[in-house]
Amino acid sequence: MERRITSAIGSLSRRGFIKSSAVGMATVLTGKSVVFGAPAQKTLRVALIGCGGRGNGALDNCHEAAKELGIELKVVATSDWFKGKAEATGKKYNVPASRCFGGANGYKKLLDTDVELVIMATSPNFRPVHFEAAIKAGKHVFMEKPVAVDPPGARKIMAAGELAKQKGLGVVAGTQRRHQAGYQRIRHAVERGAIGEIAGGSVWWCGGALWYRTKSPTESDADYMVRNWVSFTEMSGDHIVEQHVHNIDVANWYIGRTPSSALGFGGRARRKTGNQFDFFSVDLDYGDGCRIHSMCRQINGTDGGVREFFKGTQGETWGGGGLKASKEIAVPEFPDRNPYVQEHIDLLQSIIDEEPLNEAYDVATSTLTAIMSRISAYTGKLVRWKDVAENQNSPYYNLTLKPTPIDFETGDVVAPLDEIPAVPGRA
Ligand SMILES: NC(=O)c1ccc[n+]([C@@H]2O[C@H](COP(=O)([O-])OP(=O)(O)OC[C@H]3O[C@@H](n4cnc5c(N)ncnc54)[C@H](O)[C@@H]3O)[C@@H](O)[C@H]2O)c1
Repeated sequence: MERRITSAIGSLSRRGFIKSSAVGMATVLTGKSVVFGAPAQKTLRVALIGCGGRGNGALDNCHEAAKELGIELKVVATSDWFKGKAEATGKKYNVPASRCFGGANGYKKLLDTDVELVIMATSPNFRPVHFEAAIKAGKHVFMEKPVAVDPPGARKIMAAGELAKQKGLGVVAGTQRRHQAGYQRIRHAVERGAIGEIAGGSVWWCGGALWYRTKSPTESDADYMVRNWVSFTEMSGDHIVEQHVHNIDVANWYIGRTPSSALGFGGRARRKTGNQFDFFSVDLDYGDGCRIHSMCRQINGTDGGVREFFKGTQGETWGGGGLKASKEIAVPEFPDRNPYVQEHIDLLQSIIDEEPLNEAYDVATSTLTAIMSRISAYTGKLVRWKDVAENQNSPYYNLTLKPTPIDFETGDVVAPLDEIPAVPGRA
């Protein structure tokens, strides 16, 4: 039996209630509206590891959240593989150059500062090592999804997440649908039987190609892999992990458990660099007769869609969209704003309330579900949850992608050859 997945929305449920009609979610206000506390004036010291697109975006979102809550946010350090990027972000927030760190070990220097909350937005392969170090150093964490690229990495996140609980540290992940009103409302209703038992469904992330970079003749393998991380499974986990984890996370969250096995396939059709696949199709068996079809594709000119559909024994829902329910369920009023900001509001509020949210287990299990699916597609074999989470004798349990994050720290990085993807049946 798989473990049930904890909810990240518990602390919000006492903030007022609305009644939802069974179909179409028309609402009647029956309680007080959402009021964000006016906390005692507080300064929070924040730092960013990974000063790329999302890292800078998350720092902006965190500022917006802090403003909303009346917290003064002070950026005290930055770190990036490329020192110039750490300095560019630091400059925006008046961080002294001496606190803008470069290189693979920059995160250690950042954690040695007086920072209280660390935002992590490097490529996913580094997350387990950075997260564990941050929790050991006593820092609250906001970390982007996904949080690992292999099973040992995902389990490291779970273990460090437990340590965070013991230390009373807040942990929120960038699986922002869990902080998005449309999803929170429907999930609340689904959990209380609005569509009966979920019997099956589909989750999709099908879209166009992402960017890629080619290797310059003078650059190191490590620099190349860091710059071209969305092409290498060792850096991103492949797009089923890097991108489609959002939809897989919704399936785990709504169904309330992880799948017991995955059997899938995929292939490479048009990529130019790295070793990732272009498409995946996976049958996820959640037990009790419930199966979810997971599909993702990154190919221009194909039909797309980023969504989730669940068929219940007494209704159906399109994830954060429509709901056809068989009974009326009272639904709390969830704040309806940009989920990229809301996730930071929820984290900061939980720190103020001294009831820290901890999403480490949820994001780690969703990441591991996607990893299990990728392993199945790469090998062509049925992969069971216990192979990646519990059974130490399974060949998948200790499957560690190389170069590892520590190889980057020791300078021992040899890039996998471009254009050599896994071959099912042989991998
Ligand atoms: N939640 C969302 O909707 C969402 C959206 C976009 C990206 N993301 C996630 O955010 C993360 C970053 O994505 P991005 O689009 O910003 O990529 P990016 O390439 O723009 O930024 C990554 C940055 O990390 C730096 N970096 C890499 N390794 C490092 C290390 N060991 N130490 C310090 N810095 C390091 C890189 O130099 C780069 O500046 C990924 O995990 C991605 O999946 C999430």
